Amino acid sequence: MSQYPKSVRIVEVGPRDGLQNEKTVVPPEVKVELINRLSETGLKTIEAGAFVSLKWVPQMADTDKVFAAISKKSGVSYPVLVPNAKGMENAVAAGVKEIAVFAAASESFSQKNINCSIDESLERFKPVMESARQHGIKVRGYVSCVLGCPYEGEIKPAAVLKVAKALYDMGCYEISLGDTIGTGTPVKTRFMLQAVKKEIPVSALAVHFHDTYGQALANILVALEEGISVVDSAVAGLGGCPYAKGATGNVSTEDVLYMLNGMDIDTGVDIKKTVEAGQFIAAALNQQPVSKVAQVFASRV
Ligand code: HMG
Ligand code: MG
Repeated sequence: MSQYPKSVRIVEVGPRDGLQNEKTVVPPEVKVELINRLSETGLKTIEAGAFVSLKWVPQMADTDKVFAAISKKSGVSYPVLVPNAKGMENAVAAGVKEIAVFAAASESFSQKNINCSIDESLERFKPVMESARQHGIKVRGYVSCVLGCPYEGEIKPAAVLKVAKALYDMGCYEISLGDTIGTGTPVKTRFMLQAVKKEIPVSALAVHFHDTYGQALANILVALEEGISVVDSAVAGLGGCPYAKGATGNVSTEDVLYMLNGMDIDTGVDIKKTVEAGQFIAAALNQQPVSKVAQVFASRV
């Protein structure tokens, strides 16, 4: 019998990872309402936006406005993505308490996503980390393309470990391993996680699955078996990555909650309120939530 963690922290990435890739421009007040609703579900971490170039990701251009306007609930963290020193200046000016830097295990994806090599990206993070230390800001690190790259195909676990370890050694308190295009399958997930766990404590690892091929829940189950207890997901299964063509949204928070509830794993998150937050943002985007659980809840009303 596998040992599963007793509790899991869900990192809600919908307002950032989800909305960064939606064609419909979501006004800041709708993002604020979404984040405020998510804050009432029991979630402890809700990504609020990204201080990236507006030419690259126009959907995140209002992050300062959104961050200023949300009701910040005590005990809830509202991290934002930061790719470089300029983004960090903006994050500090906005008064954020937590950021996430993001690198990739694939050279080609790094170039397409942040216009520099992997090594250059790690260099860029050094002043960001220094500023974070000075301002008492927590830093999470992402590694993209851990189970495949839209440009290079297969990615070796050793390449994932190298970047994850560099971010961890730099001072990131947690490393989120991103299956950016959702091509991962359970056995590959296990191999990749076992490689990364050799040099990074499992308590400092999180998983981040996009659900392009419907494998995310199976992969998360494997991650739980490997001792991982932090799972990224997006309400209503929103989004994708603008620099990963064909990638669909993250695994939906509602579906992850349903699975964890069924395993008696505590998340502290109310599934009904989460479904309602998902219905709110799906309606604003004029679409149905990409979540089987949300669809069942809707059919019961
Ligand atoms: P660049 O064009 O090489 O940057 O972009 P640059 O330093 O040459 O600057 C060019 C212009 O951008 C200048 O303005 C800068 O001031 C401005 P100009 O003089 O032309 O008017 N600039 C900025 N503006 C605002 N915020 C900044 C910033 N930096 C420079 N931080 C850069 C390099 C990294 C900025 C760009 O490539 C970028 O913003 N990329 C972000 C892409 C992105 O957000 N992708 C999605 C997030 S990652 C993801 O989704 C994966 C994840 O979910 C995990 C997974 O699923 O795997 C995390
Ligand atoms: Mg992502």
